[in-house]
Parts: sequence; C-alpha cells; structure tokens
Amino acid sequence: MNDVQQLDELLDSRRDQARRPVEPCTMVIFGASGDLTSRKLIPALYHLALEKLLPQPYKIVGFARREKTDETWRAELREALGKFSRTQPVDEAVWAAFAANIHYCLGDMSDSKAYEKLASMVAGFPDEKLRRNRLFYLATNPSQFAEVTSHLNAVGLLTRSEAGMTPERVVVEKPFGHDLASAQELNAELTRFAHEKQIFRIDHYLGKETVQNILTFRFSNAIFERLWNREAIDHVQITVGEKLGVGSRGGYYEEAGAMRDMVQNHVLQVLALVAMEPPVSLEAENVRDEKVKLLKSIRPMTASQVAENVVRGQYFAGEVDGEPRPAYRSEVKVKPNSNVETFVAMRINIDNWRWSGVPFYLRTGKNLPHSASEVRIHFKSAPSILFNAGLGRKLDANSLTLRLQPNEGMTLRFNGKVPGGATELRPVRMNFSYDTEFGAYTPEAYERLLLEAMAADATLFIRRDEVEAAWGIVDAIRTAWVGKSLTNREFYAAGTWGPFAADELLARDGREWRNPQPQK
Ligand code: BG6
Repeated sequence: MNDVQQLDELLDSRRDQARRPVEPCTMVIFGASGDLTSRKLIPALYHLALEKLLPQPYKIVGFARREKTDETWRAELREALGKFSRTQPVDEAVWAAFAANIHYCLGDMSDSKAYEKLASMVAGFPDEKLRRNRLFYLATNPSQFAEVTSHLNAVGLLTRSEAGMTPERVVVEKPFGHDLASAQELNAELTRFAHEKQIFRIDHYLGKETVQNILTFRFSNAIFERLWNREAIDHVQITVGEKLGVGSRGGYYEEAGAMRDMVQNHVLQVLALVAMEPPVSLEAENVRDEKVKLLKSIRPMTASQVAENVVRGQYFAGEVDGEPRPAYRSEVKVKPNSNVETFVAMRINIDNWRWSGVPFYLRTGKNLPHSASEVRIHFKSAPSILFNAGLGRKLDANSLTLRLQPNEGMTLRFNGKVPGGATELRPVRMNFSYDTEFGAYTPEAYERLLLEAMAADATLFIRRDEVEAAWGIVDAIRTAWVGKSLTNREFYAAGTWGPFAADELLARDGREWRNPQPQK
C-alpha cells in the first residue's frame, strides 16, 4: 500500500467514525399540543420520512393534556402540515404511512398515573429496539423539565447512565436559563435523572447547513486556513439580522431582549465555529471541547469596558420594505417605557494565540432592513505603495463573506484592474452559491437535528459547559446595563441598520460595518 492509499484509508475510517446508524426508536414529545410540534417537529419528521431517512421501525408519541385520540391528533397534524411543510403538496401515501406511527398519550405532566400509561404504551410496542431506544423531547417550559424527568425516572423510562450506556436521551430547547445561576440550576435538575451525555440541547442555528459548513470550509481548504489568524486578518464582522419585529412575542421578549434571545446562543455559536481551533476529530466531545475553549478565551468585560465596547439599541417606529412598523415600546405586552434591547452590537477580543489583537464585531437586531446572517472576514490591506499615485486613496482590503442565510454561499472580494489604458483598480467579487452549485436544497434545521438526536450523535448540540460559558459572557454585559435607561443615541428607526452608536463603535477603530446586501 502506498502512502496516498494509506492516507485515504485513514481518512475514510475517520469519516465512518462520525457516521452513526440510526436505530429504531421511539420519540415521545412532551408539550405535544404546542406550536413547536405542529410547526417544526412534525413537518421535520415528515420530511425525514419522505426522504427515507427515518429508522425502521419508529414511533412518535405525543404527550399532552388536551383531550384527543390518535385519530384526532393525526388529523390536526395533517392540517398543520398543509400550512407548515416546506414542500407542497404533501405526499398522501408517505403521510399515511408516517401517520400510522404517530400516537397520542393523554396526560398531565404532574400526574404519575399518566407516566404509567405512557410506560405501558411503550412496553406494548412490537419491536425490542422501539421499547428500549427512547428519546424524550421536552417541548415544555423549562420549569417543567425537573418534574417530567423525575416522573420518567420513577416509571423506569429514563435512567441516568454515567457513560451514556443507556439509549435513553432527553432533548431540550432554549431558553437554557436566563442567566448563569439559573442555567446551572436547570442543568443540575436535568442531570439528576439523565447523564450529561444523554442530554441534547438544541440551538437550531447548528442545524443550518451553512453553519455546519463553517467547519468543513475552514478545515478542508488549505488556502483559507493558512490565513485564518492574526497575521492575515484585520478584523471579523458577524451580523445576524432580522427584518421582523417582535410581533406577538412582546411578553417573552421583555424578559429576554436581544442579548438573551440571540447573542447567548446563536451569535456566540457562530462565533465559536468561526474562531475555534481545529478539533482532534469530528467526534462530538472533541468539537465541543474546542468551542468551549474559544468561549473561555473571550476577554471578560468590566462595567466600564461594557460601556466602551457594547452598544444596545431599541427600534422606534419606521418602515421595513415600505411597510410601517410600530415602535418597540408600542408592541403588544411591552412596557411603554421599556429599556429592553432589540439590537446589540459589540466588539470582543479573543485572548488566544491565533486571535490576539484581532477584534470581532458582532451585531444582531430586529426590524433591520433585511433578514440576513453573515460572517465577514476582513483581511489586512496590501501595502499600497505601487498604486498610491493612481488611486489617491487606500486600496480596498480583501474580504471573504460567508452568507449563512439567505442566498447561502460565499463571496471573495479582491482588487482588479479596470480594463483600459489607465491604472484604475476596483474591488471585484468571486461568488459561490449553494443553489447554483448543488441545486436548491434547504432542509429545515430541525430535520438534521432530530436525525442526529435519534442517532445519539451530540456534535450539533450544546454541552453544559458551553451554555454556562456563554452565560458568563452575557451576564457581565447585562449586569452593566442594570438601572441604566437607554439614551437617544441608542434608538434606531425600524428599517435601518441599528443605532448611530453602533456605527461609532467601529468608526472609533477606523472601520465601518459592511451591511448584507438584499437577496437578488
Ligand atoms: C430564535 C429567536 O431562537 O431565533 C427568535 O428566539 C429569532 O427571536 C429566531 O427570530 C431566528 O431564527 P432564524 O432561523 O429565523 O434565523
């Protein structure tokens, strides 16, 4: 065997390591009559069935308090699928086969009898693996996690197993607490009846194809990874923008704000993937170890550093796409004098070898001009001595933009000569688009995440120490805001890219935000 063959063999075996078979399993959804189930979970599972990715056999059990039978629940879900399925029309033959695996277990989450009923339902499933391989999806309020897991434990459906030896798993959604202390408490409750290895915390950004591609892109391309450090990079901008306002979620948002709703999870997750060191392998623990290391290298801020490096904003009335939008303070269930932030921009420093001296600018907000998430890597400028005279200004620095959504792809921006006699330079773009290269393929994040949870692969889920490290960062900032009202320079009109103070944050460093371009 020659060296190349040997290397190929090694690489193949590494890839196989990461691919786990999906065993027959039973998924029990608590809070099954909620929105998440009909809008996201069932459409995602239906698409997995459509693409023949579900294990054979499988069972889906909805556990909730409202009076329903298997038939009435299936009919409700079929109707919702008509509205929320990403592909239409629904394939009736696939739906019929899929629906036959859906069952309803009527019960109150605080009633031990209901769990006994659930246990006997599961015990009656015909396949040994279906009875043994159990996944509990807690689409409930986090305050109910402890109650549900302790009842499951009492009837023998969930057992804590040190090394993840039992096939039982618990899937939970954010919010994972509202600060570090409450997250620690929640984690302690969750791990009473399930080992950390049995807990799958969802951040739906990690299910997005383009977010997953950050690692592939970085670590499979020598041309970029060699430049991915302080030697070549001037700074990095991460924008996660949304053109929707808070709409009917005012009550929730008053408690959360952009910092808890977006920065603590999605924005910091994207940052971790962009900036982390290469993991030893793509195994879950190795990837998550590197993400945690990165989060821990973010320089903590004192209150005065928060004032200098973090800008909050709140929208007032304006227009998005020609549509009028009310001020945040006039939204339903929002206090008329609320100081909750609907926008955050921040400058952070990562104190490690690779990134020393490279600022990362992060921003996210509601009611911005477009919904667009992107990472923009700004390289250092080339010395412009050769072109100074002709240009009379600085050369445009190269940049690489990873467009996470929409218009998924990448753009490399560099300088080119404008054809003609004069030495005229201008930035040109090289564009890669997922759709053009691979055809339109936009699976919902939940499809990938549910499949991974069924396969017990935790790579795309958030580990306890990640959650806690992210809260540490967010708490320091939020504490510095306590008792401080928003000032005039922190308000922005709906339909603009945030408050003036966010532009000043970069201007002070001699830089400016590059705004995502609208989708063509
Ligand atoms: C959720 C937030 O986690 O993410 C919402 O609670 C936000 O406020 C949403 O709108 C954004 O997700 P996406 O996939 O639309 O970018």
